Formats: sequence, structure tokens, C-alpha cells
Amino acid sequence: MFNSKIAGIGYYVPEKVVTNFDLIKVMDTSDEWIQERTGIVERRYAEKHKESTSTLGVKAAEIAIARAGITAKDIDFIVFATLSPDYYFPGSGVLLQRQMGMNGIGALDIRNQCSGFIYGLSVADQFVKTGMYKNVLLVGAEMHSCGLDFTTRGRNVTVIFGDGAGAVVLQPTEDQAKGVLSTHLHADGEHAERLSYLNPGSHGGVFLGTEKFGYPDQEFGGAFLTEHMIATEDIYPNMDGQHVFKFAVTKFPEVIQEALHANGYQAKDIDMFIPHQANLRISQFVQQKLGLSDDKVWNNIQKYGNTTAASIPIALCEAWEAGKVKENDLVCLAAFGSGFTWASALIRW
Ligand code: UT7
Repeated sequence: MFNSKIAGIGYYVPEKVVTNFDLIKVMDTSDEWIQERTGIVERRYAEKHKESTSTLGVKAAEIAIARAGITAKDIDFIVFATLSPDYYFPGSGVLLQRQMGMNGIGALDIRNQCSGFIYGLSVADQFVKTGMYKNVLLVGAEMHSCGLDFTTRGRNVTVIFGDGAGAVVLQPTEDQAKGVLSTHLHADGEHAERLSYLNPGSHGGVFLGTEKFGYPDQEFGGAFLTEHMIATEDIYPNMDGQHVFKFAVTKFPEVIQEALHANGYQAKDIDMFIPHQANLRISQFVQQKLGLSDDKVWNNIQKYGNTTAASIPIALCEAWEAGKVKENDLVCLAAFGSGFTWASALIRW
């Protein structure tokens, strides 16, 4: 058995900066409200018709691959995490593969939203550990900007999200004390619709196991995307923010303690904590709960908003580039989001 280690890491954010003041021009919100509730000052939006989720992922992947000291031809498996894919299907993994000329190798898409990167890390880790693959490319990328409601109706969701991508290359190491020490994955589908983007989908307005209302539709046939969905503008993400917040501040500390416990560590042993960038207030709450000083937590939501599956690899890469993640450091990753799903990972760098 091997451990898997992060041999290369990279990120890319689009050039276009969208400030809170830019959003005020299109919806009833304020810089004060956004900063006070979320910590966000600005975010990046990709260039429509020129960029897409997979192209953002390619840019991050190129950097990660170069830093691993290999070429795209050496990659033997792709894991791509996103909730905002280029297409409904096929997934963005094969599109990245095509753009990078890595045809023939397997490409797996992960749909675990904010926890997508850690779920992907766990999957990639298993492949490397067993010796099945030697160079696994794991990408988290999002282009939220083309799927948000830019009217006041959508303000509670829209102000939070931004575009970006992060990537790592995982390789085997024989040193059992190094690399990914453990990953911990959880989900509770009870809350599936509390943070969701339901259309297009096969539900037809009937949410199994919950309240049923059903779209006015024919008995047979229909489509994933119906005229009814478009007419009622039921084509945007929705979030019960307070409900999500309440669970996030409970589950983050829980899943971090689980990772620490599994490896015989305590919070004070963490050298760098990289939380999923959901809300600065959530990260600060978790930091306080763990008793970590400011220099042991990396937050960049102020600059990029919530980039979902991309937020952890972007933050991890920034921290590494800043020299804050060094050889032998104990790095803790943790995420919570839509599903609900939540996850953590401990890495000995
Ligand atoms: O990564 C995925 C996981 N997502 C999260 O972790 C998000 C967790 N939740 C949150 O971060 C917070 O719930 C939000 C930042 C989304 C919202 O903050 P909140 O303090 O929970 O606000 P709220 O939804 O309870 O809304 C309070 C008020 C409402 O007005 P009334 O009903 O009190 O008059 C909203 O309509 O704020 C209003 N509001 C806004 N006002 C200005 C909602 N969004 C906005 C906005 N600008 N963008």
C-alpha cells in the first residue's frame, strides 16, 4: 500500500472582478449587507462564450501538472468535481480531457457540490493507495456566473458565488507518514432541496420523500427542461440560508474532530486549516471552536466569493504559494454544503 501525496497544485480565477458595488447596479443589495453577513468584497466572473467550467479547470490543471514535474501525457486518471458543468451531460471531465489531449484515460465526474473536492480527493486517494494509478489529476471548477438570478429575487444566493478552478496531481509515496492521512465523507439527503438547483431534472415537480406538488405536465413524455420551468423562471439555485448556516456550524467542527481523532491528533496540532469558503462568519466560528490562531487558517472568500468545488484547492494553492504550507505541515481540509454533504481530510505535506 502507498499513501497519496499532492505532487503539484495550481489554481486559476478569471480576470473579471465583480465588486459588491457592481451587484448593487442590478439588484437591491448593499456592500454593507454582503460584507457583514458573508465577508465577501468581490468575486470573479468568467468570460461568457470564451470560458466555461472545463476551460477554467484546464488552466488550473496545467499549472498543477507542470508543478508536479510531469506532462499531461503522464496523467492516468481524471477526477472532476463541479456543480456547474459545461453540459447536463457528458460531464466536464471528458471535456477537460479532450482539451488537454489526454484521450483514452478514465474521467470521473463528482457531484458533491461544496464537498466535491474532498469527495474527489478521497476517490483519487483510493486509486493511488491501491497502486491502480500513479498520476491522478483532481480538478474542482465552477462557473456559477452563468446560472444565477441577477434580480433582487435571487440576491441571497447570487451575491455569494463566484467562478474559479483549482487542481492537484496526486502521486504515490511509500512514506506512510506523508500525504493524505485520511478522508471522512458524510451526507444527509433529508435536506436535499434546502440548497439546490433542481432544473433541469427528472423530478417533474415531484420531490420524492418530501412534499409533492407536480408540474402541470402530460402523463408521459416531457423533458428535463420544460416550458413550465422556464415560464415560472424555476431555473435558478435556491437556498434556505439560515438552515444551511445552522448545520454548517455544527458539522464542520464534528467532521474535523473525526479526522483528528482518527489520526491521534488534536486541533492544536493543525498547522494550516483550509475551510471550504462558504461564508467568512462560518469559517471564523469554526476557527474559534478549534481554538486556532489567524495564521493557521486560510480565508480568501473576501476576494473570490464561494467557488464551491474550487474553493478548497484555490485556498490551498494560495496558502502554499504564500509559503504557509510547508514540508511536514499538518493540513486540515473541511467542507459542508448542498446535499447536505460534509467532509474532511488530513494531509501531512
Ligand atoms: O457553500 C454552500 C453552503 N452555503 C452556505 O454555507 C450559506 C449559509 N448561509 C449563509 O451564509 C447566510 O444564511 C446568508 C449569508 C446566505 C444569508 O444571511 P442571513 O443572515 O441568514 O440572512 P437571511 O436569509 O435570514 O435574510 C435576512 C434579510 C431578509 O430580509 P427580511 O426578510 O429580514 O426583510 C432577506 O430578504 O436579508 C435579506 N437579504 C438581503 N438583503 C440585502 C437576503 N439577501 C440579501 C442581499 N442583500 N444580498
